[in-house]
Amino acid sequence: MRIESHVLLWAGFHRKRPTLRVFVLGGTGRIGSAVVRELVGRGHQLFALARSDASAARLDHIGVTAIAGDIGSPEAWVATLRPLDAAIHMACDFNTDMGAVDRRLLDALLPALATNKQRPRFLYTGGCWLFGATGDDLATEQTPFRPLPAFAWMVPQLQRVLASTEVDGIVIHPAMVYGREGGVFDRFAREAAAGQAVRVVANEAVRWPLVHAEDLAQLYALALERARPGSSYIGAAVEGFPVGPIARAFARRLGTGNETPQIIPTDAIAAELGEWARGYALDQRLSGAKARRDLGWTPRHLDPEGEILFGGPPEGPDTK
Ligand SMILES: NC(=O)c1ccc[n+]([C@@H]2O[C@H](COP(=O)([O-])OP(=O)(O)OC[C@H]3O[C@@H](n4cnc5c(N)ncnc54)[C@H](OP(=O)(O)O)[C@@H]3O)[C@@H](O)[C@H]2O)c1
Repeated sequence: MRIESHVLLWAGFHRKRPTLRVFVLGGTGRIGSAVVRELVGRGHQLFALARSDASAARLDHIGVTAIAGDIGSPEAWVATLRPLDAAIHMACDFNTDMGAVDRRLLDALLPALATNKQRPRFLYTGGCWLFGATGDDLATEQTPFRPLPAFAWMVPQLQRVLASTEVDGIVIHPAMVYGREGGVFDRFAREAAAGQAVRVVANEAVRWPLVHAEDLAQLYALALERARPGSSYIGAAVEGFPVGPIARAFARRLGTGNETPQIIPTDAIAAELGEWARGYALDQRLSGAKARRDLGWTPRHLDPEGEILFGGPPEGPDTK
C-alpha cells in the first residue's frame, strides 16, 4: 500500500502537461517563430497558416504542419481546419487595410472555431502601442487604451475576442520585441553595421518597454496553458528603456566610430515605413507584473543594453 501511494505520487509529479492541438497565424513572424519553437518544445501539436511555399518550408523544418492560406481570404481555408484545442493569432501585414483584414479574418475564423466540440482557447495579439505615450506613469492591464491611430482598429477586435462566446479569449500585449532573429533593433544593427549613424526617432530619451522574443514565447505558452478566459496580459520584461543608449550600444559593439545617433522626426519614419511607425516615438513604461504574478512568467532577458554589448544573459535554470 505504501509503495503504491509512493508510485502514484511520483507519477503525478512527473505527469506530462496535456498535448494541445494548436493552430497558429503568423507562425513565421518575429513573435510567432519564437512562439511555435516554444510550443513545439513543450510537446504541443502545431498547425500554422502559411501564405507562401517558403513559409511552409520554414514551418515544416521545425515540425509544424503548414496549412496554405492568407489572412486576407479566410473563407478559402477556415473550413479545412480539423478539431483544435486552441488558436493563436500573431499575423499582420502592416498595410493600410490591416484593420479591415483582421475584422474579416475574425468574422470567418471565430465561428469556425466555435464548431469544435469543446470551446477552444483563442490568444489574440494586441500591443504596447495601444496604451499611447505614458511618460513616467506605468501602464497596466487596467489602464484605459489610448491607441496609436494606425492601430486603433485593434481595440474593438480584442474586446470582441475577450467577450466572445465562440472561443475562450485571452489577449497578450507584447512590449517591443527584440531577439536573436532581429526584432525592433534590427534597423539599428543594420545601420551600425553599414557604418552609418544609427537613426533614432524623436529623441534619445524616448523609452520603449522591451521583451526578448524567447521570454515573450514563454508568456504565450503559459497563457495558453493557464490563463483565465477573458484575461489580458502585458508582456513587458523591461518596463521602459531609453533608445539612445541602445543605439549607442550597437554603434560601440559594431565599432563604427560614430556613436552619436542621428535624430529623425516622426514624420520621416512614417513617410518611410507607414503611419504605424509613429509608434517608435512613443515614450512608454508598461508593467509585466500581472503575468509574473498570475502565470509565473519569469523573463530572463532583463539587461538589453548589456546583451547588445556583451552577448546573451547568464545561463539560468530551465523555467518551463
Ligand atoms: N514585433 C513587435 O515588437 C510587436 C510588439 C507589439 C505588438 N506586435 C504585434 O504582433 C503582431 C505580429 O508582429 P510581428 O512583429 O511578429 O510581425 P512580423 O514579424 O511582420 O510577422 C508577421 C507574420 O504574419 C504573417 N502574415 C503577414 N501577412 C499575412 C497574410 N496576408 N497572410 C498570412 N500570413 C501573413 C507573416 O507571414 P510570412 O512570414 O509569410 O510573411 C508572419 O508570419 C502584429 O499584430 C504586431 O502589431 C508586435
